[in-house]
Amino acid sequence: MTQDASLFVLFGATGDLAQRMLLPSLYALERDGLLPQALRILGTARSAMDAAGFRANVAESVGKAIAAGECNEAALERLLGRCDYQAASVDDPAALAALAARIATLRGDGDTLVHLSTAPKFYGPICEALAAGGVADARMRVMLEKPIGHDLASSIAINESVAKVFREAQVFRVDHYLGKEGVQNLLALRFGNALFEPIWNSRFVEQVQITVAETVGLEGRGGYYDESGAMRDMVQNHLLQLLTLTAMEPPSHFDPGAVRNEKLKVLRSLRPIEGDDVATHTVAGQYTAGAIDGKAVPGYADELGRRSRTESFVAIRAHIDNWRWSGVPFYLRTGKRLPRRTTEIYVKMRAVPHSIFDGEGATPEPNALLIRLQPEERISMMLMSKTPGLDRGGVKLSQVALDLDLHDAFAHERKRIAYERLYRDALAGVGTLFVRRDEIEAAWSWVDQILGGWTARGQEPKPYPAGTWGPTSALALPERHGHSWRE
Ligand code: BG6
Repeated sequence: MTQDASLFVLFGATGDLAQRMLLPSLYALERDGLLPQALRILGTARSAMDAAGFRANVAESVGKAIAAGECNEAALERLLGRCDYQAASVDDPAALAALAARIATLRGDGDTLVHLSTAPKFYGPICEALAAGGVADARMRVMLEKPIGHDLASSIAINESVAKVFREAQVFRVDHYLGKEGVQNLLALRFGNALFEPIWNSRFVEQVQITVAETVGLEGRGGYYDESGAMRDMVQNHLLQLLTLTAMEPPSHFDPGAVRNEKLKVLRSLRPIEGDDVATHTVAGQYTAGAIDGKAVPGYADELGRRSRTESFVAIRAHIDNWRWSGVPFYLRTGKRLPRRTTEIYVKMRAVPHSIFDGEGATPEPNALLIRLQPEERISMMLMSKTPGLDRGGVKLSQVALDLDLHDAFAHERKRIAYERLYRDALAGVGTLFVRRDEIEAAWSWVDQILGGWTARGQEPKPYPAGTWGPTSALALPERHGHSWRE
């Protein structure tokens, strides 16, 4: 039985993710009274620092993340009052043993949540050190940051090393997209309304497009990114998670087992892309110099400081071979230095079977549903309407959008960091919005096949100027089938 955590241990507590997202999320939960009452927070990282130094560091990160004048000082003080720090190099067994001893003294009556925000190669050694120190028992949970591996084999190796110490139910793998309000809202839209389910299948849906477009470039993370590329950095996790939530069967409950079983079935139904299909169903690109929002930006190789074959853009025509989606293409695309930042799911319906209207301007466009998750949340349904007027030639039609602007509808609600939701759930032991081992491994095996296909064909990413929607072959990908990307 899980219970609320009474100790939260953050590895990588001085790292970039902690500063930008994790510590501000803890503050936000504190301010809203959502942290377990007895919770202690133990930060750990290589840097030598005492508790006062760490508290100053937490206060600074919160200060940077919260708009000036909006910080609730009393809440910040309460948060700082919970914080301790112990330096430990994750490759130093003696330091890890001392840390485990500290955990034993701090952990109190509740569970312990350990968040590993370090390089994944340390996950196994850290878990072993926790076990050797006698604290990795049934009262401990571990939260693992991505990337879990570089391919299926390395992902299995990392998962195995963690599984030697923790049961699967104790392992919480992060995909921060699952913590986003808009992503959870996709489930609310699909399963909280009777309207969509009857048409959510190949009889009514002609194609689905999932786009995660970013305007940023390497952001100083060239070392990591160039090893990874858009396929490993975005498709293997975020895009495939969005695809599973869009395509899965209705789970019986919103609980970890039911939801993740349905997601897994989708991943396992993805048609492998192999042989010649790699060339016709996928596109890899790399940006060259260009302009974003009217500002000149350098190309990928210039930002990196050397030539590289790593892709900063991927487009894929995927298929889910099951009863619901047979024959419906799922177009996925993601990239850096694209014209605007957007995360959206576009579900285009089939045309009406027969049009009763004749003449110019009277052709019904197929309906479509647009679910925008970022930068603002919006759901729009594209419908046909009569163009007002007394045309002699008969009825004219226009496409109009039935818009649900969630930004306005819930204007009083604060925009939350994805980690607020993830921490709240992990502290309580609820794993629904975390990724199970079999999901990660199924996603890797699909992605590995495409990566292997690129290597086998010696395929290099095609150039695209920064500020455009990827290489021209990405436009051709749907066009060959009479479809086009939504822009
Ligand atoms: C991360 C990737 O997982 O997601 C980054 O490593 C990417 O490369 C980021 O920029 C995008 O997340 P978000 O929340 O800004 O859409």
